[in-house]
Amino acid sequence: MDAQLPATAPISVGLPATVSEYTQVWPQPQPAPVRGRPPIKRIAVLTSGGDAPGMNAAIRSVVRTGVERDWLVFGVKHGYAGLIADDMAILGRRDVGGVIGQGGTMLGSARSAEFRAEAGRRQALDVLAGRGIDALVVIGGNGSQCGANALAEMGFPVVGVASTIDNDLVGSEITIGVDTAMNIALEAIDRLKTTASSHHRAFLIEVMGRDCGYLALMSAIAGGAEAVAIPEIETDPEAIGEKLRTAYERGKPHALVVVAEGAKYNAERLAAYFTENRERLGFDLRTTILGHVQRGGAPTAADRLLATRLAAAATEQLARGETGVLVGLNKNEIVATPLADVAGKRKPLDVGLVALAEVLEK
Ligand code: F6P
Repeated sequence: MDAQLPATAPISVGLPATVSEYTQVWPQPQPAPVRGRPPIKRIAVLTSGGDAPGMNAAIRSVVRTGVERDWLVFGVKHGYAGLIADDMAILGRRDVGGVIGQGGTMLGSARSAEFRAEAGRRQALDVLAGRGIDALVVIGGNGSQCGANALAEMGFPVVGVASTIDNDLVGSEITIGVDTAMNIALEAIDRLKTTASSHHRAFLIEVMGRDCGYLALMSAIAGGAEAVAIPEIETDPEAIGEKLRTAYERGKPHALVVVAEGAKYNAERLAAYFTENRERLGFDLRTTILGHVQRGGAPTAADRLLATRLAAAATEQLARGETGVLVGLNKNEIVATPLADVAGKRKPLDVGLVALAEVLEK
C-alpha cells in the first residue's frame, strides 16, 4: 500500500447497522436462488491500482444495484491492502450520494505487494469468510484484475470491472477513466498550441499510459499534433525533428509532439536529445509532463455512464452466478470475458491509426 497517507479515514456516517434496518427502509424482493448455490447475501467492492475518473460512479452503481437486490454491500478501503487488513464498512444508498461527479475513489486505492503473495491472498479469503461475504467486485486495471483472477482461481466468486486510464485491458474496447484522461490531455494540448503559436515555438507534451500508447496516439490525433511517439513503435528523434521543421516550412505557427510516458524517447530523453543537438536541429523543445493531472478531476459524462453500466452488469453477473469474469464494453454491448483471458495480457493498440495520424499531422 502507498505509505504516505493514513488509510483509516471513515467511508461514511449514519449507516444502518444491520441487514434488517436496510430492509425496513428499502424492502426488497428476495433474489431467486441460483441452482446449486446459496443465494448471495453479502458482497464487497474495492477499487485497486491507479485511480481512474469514474471509479466513484462504479462504486455507487455496485452499491445501489446490490442494495436493490437486498444484498449487504461492504466497501473495502484501499484496495487489496484493505481487504487483507479487514478494513471495510457497510455502504447504503445514501453513503454513495453525490459521488457520481467526483474524481478519485471514495474507497481509496493502493497497489498491494502483500496480496501478490499467496499468503496475502489466503488472508484476504479468511477476512471475506469471517465477514460472511459471498462475492467480490474488483474495480481496476491490469494488476487489479490479475489479483481478481488469482482469487477466482482459489474458488472465490469475483467479477472485475474494467477501469484504467491506460485502456490496455483485454476484454473492453474502452475502460473507465480513458475519456476523462483524454479530454484533460486535449485541453492541455489546445492550451499549449495557443502559446506555441504566439511565439512560433516547438512543444513536447508527455501523457500517461504506462506501456500503452493509446492515450498519446488518440490525443495526438484529436489534438492535431505534428508528431507522436508511442512505445509500440520505435521512434527516431531525428524523424521527429524533421516533422517539426517541415511543419514550420508549411506555414504552421506551432509544432507539438505528444509523447507517451512509456515511449523509448519519453519527454526527458527527447528533450535532452533536442538540447544536445540544438545547433544542428535549429530549435529545442519546451516540455510539459501531464502526469497524474490526467487522473484527477470530475469524470466526463461518458465515463460516468460507462462506469454505471459496467458496475450494474457486475452485480447482474453475480446474481446469475456467472463469476470469474471481467465486465467490459465491446461495440457498445456489455461483455463478460473470463479473468483468465484478461490477467497478465495487454490489449494491442490499433497501430493502423498511426498511419492516419501521419497523414493528418501534415
Ligand atoms: O495505470 C494507470 C497509471 O496512471 C499509468 O498511466 C501510470 O504509468 C501509472 O498509473 C502511475 O502509477 P502511480 O500512480 O502509482 O505513480
